[in-house]
Amino acid sequence: MSGAAVRIGVLFGGPSAEHEVSCASALGVARALAERGHQVVALGIDRDGTLRLVPEPVLAGHLASVAAGRAIDDRLPVTGPPVELRRGSRAGTVAVTAADAPASRYVELDVAFPVLHGPYGEDGVVQGLLESLGVPYVGCGILSSAVGMDKVAMKRALRAEGVPTTPHVWFDAATWRAAEDPEKLVVGLRWPLFVKPARMGSSIGISRVAEGDDLVAAVEEALRHDQVVLVEQGVTGRELECGVLGGWRPEASAVGEVRVTGGWFDYRQKYFGDADPMIVPAQLPAEITERIRELSVRAFTAIGGWGLARVDFLYDETAGEVFVNELNTLPGFTAHSMYPKVWAASGVDYPEVVDRLVALAFARHAARPGVRPAGGAA
Ligand SMILES: Nc1ncnc2c1ncn2[C@@H]1O[C@H](COP(=O)(O)OP(=O)(O)O)[C@@H](O)[C@H]1O
Ligand SMILES: [Mg+2]
Repeated sequence: MSGAAVRIGVLFGGPSAEHEVSCASALGVARALAERGHQVVALGIDRDGTLRLVPEPVLAGHLASVAAGRAIDDRLPVTGPPVELRRGSRAGTVAVTAADAPASRYVELDVAFPVLHGPYGEDGVVQGLLESLGVPYVGCGILSSAVGMDKVAMKRALRAEGVPTTPHVWFDAATWRAAEDPEKLVVGLRWPLFVKPARMGSSIGISRVAEGDDLVAAVEEALRHDQVVLVEQGVTGRELECGVLGGWRPEASAVGEVRVTGGWFDYRQKYFGDADPMIVPAQLPAEITERIRELSVRAFTAIGGWGLARVDFLYDETAGEVFVNELNTLPGFTAHSMYPKVWAASGVDYPEVVDRLVALAFARHAARPGVRPAGGAA
């Protein structure tokens, strides 16, 4: 791809609860890509799943207003004609066609950049679509996206590689309903407990349950979001986050801290909190910082990650223990998000991050199974 401008389709919006955050992340990504000389095509996904090609002047207006420091709006709008993606005229490209007239092609893309958070965009669904179209795309592949989204599968992968996770149990809806004494399902865990749906995000469906609180209600709430539920032992301590970027030899960023009030980082604090709760870099003993960076790379490798992930930790200062809480394979990507901030603190600015991610997308595509490396080694 060297030389020619690369045409990049930024996919954003989507049906998940994180639709708005995705629209904000996408504006940041689009702007950085444009700054780096790439041609950006904005593809918004409605909450009902309709894909729309954002008209060029609308995108240009948003990019220009951000550049001039007078953002009309801090997010990209999901607007424009309904479109579909089909195989492009050249191998490895994808065509954006009118939804009702497949022969009418708007544009062809060299690479897709999903900036989607949560189920559908971060769990392997969109990644599978892009694989089937044969186009390079940014970020984790199908398996690592799916494993990263499913907290039960994720913890299994981490434990298998010796990465510490909090003690927990999990069960499905049928096992829960059949249990005579629900509390027996959680024996061995110390209170407070955290009850979570296996596959969600943004703290949706999660409850903190102290001794004497209603465990049954918490499990029922989690079951409204997924048929599989985890119950974890609570860790009293600090929340730390670290960025991972790379392919075969991923690197870890500086470590950031999220200052949480009220015991845990719930939905309201994540999106409606007034204080900026991020501290970058986190004030930590050097050996804890190093341990977190090392565990981040190991966690990323354990799920088979590619491109990027943000690895979130719980740090019990009193016991000196560090646990990986979760990996986010498409973390928030606005200028104020933790992922760009921890990389900036490591000397890698936002445009450089997105540039590297695009290069990694091409590198994985070139190395996919069945493709011989260029140079023709037998
Ligand atoms: N085992 C735990 N101990 C203490 N706090 C926890 C634990 N698990 C989750 N939390 C709190 O709940 C928040 C959301 O949980 P998390 O597993 O990160 O779900 P999500 O994918 O929705 O972000 C965390 O940021 C943290 O504040
Ligand atoms: Mg989280």
